[in-house]
Amino acid sequence: MTTGTETTPTLDRGVLSEDNEAKREKLIDMLAKAYWMEMETVMSYITNSVNPDGVRAQEIVESLAGDIQEELGHAQELARRIKELWGVVPGSMEFQAEQTYLQPPERQTDIVHVVKGVIAAEKGAIEFYNEIVDFTDGFDLVTQDMVIGILRDEEGHLRLFEGFLREFEHDGLA
Ligand SMILES: [Fe+2]
Ligand SMILES: [Fe+2]
Repeated sequence: MTTGTETTPTLDRGVLSEDNEAKREKLIDMLAKAYWMEMETVMSYITNSVNPDGVRAQEIVESLAGDIQEELGHAQELARRIKELWGVVPGSMEFQAEQTYLQPPERQTDIVHVVKGVIAAEKGAIEFYNEIVDFTDGFDLVTQDMVIGILRDEEGHLRLFEGFLREFEHDGLA
């Protein structure tokens, strides 16, 4: 931000005010982390919606295939918000993979591995989005509102995959 000679008024409150610069920078870092989490989820859901074999896998792969666009939409929302806060969306060289639990299993019929991996990914996202909701409280309600919407999607994904896991447990497969 330039100061001094500009003729436009300065903002006294909210995330774009000068006083909130440090907090805004921290928020941009958090949004960038969330952006990478979503991008990695897109990659993991593509692989896990294609690799699995077997009758039991069909419901899971269809569900994951449907989630890909939603997760991609989350990444785009986060990217746009980073820009609105005067940040720069990071380039691909900054990407670091973290989803060890969503790597392809040894046997492609091991669908329980995939279901548990998705649950781990969704729980990780839910934890982190709750952290952003807390951080933005009373300071950036626009980001908070956006993240609450995304959080609701992730809670829905978690609930769906917990239901799949319950069935596998009931059938003695997990
Ligand atoms: Fe997501
Ligand atoms: Fe999700």
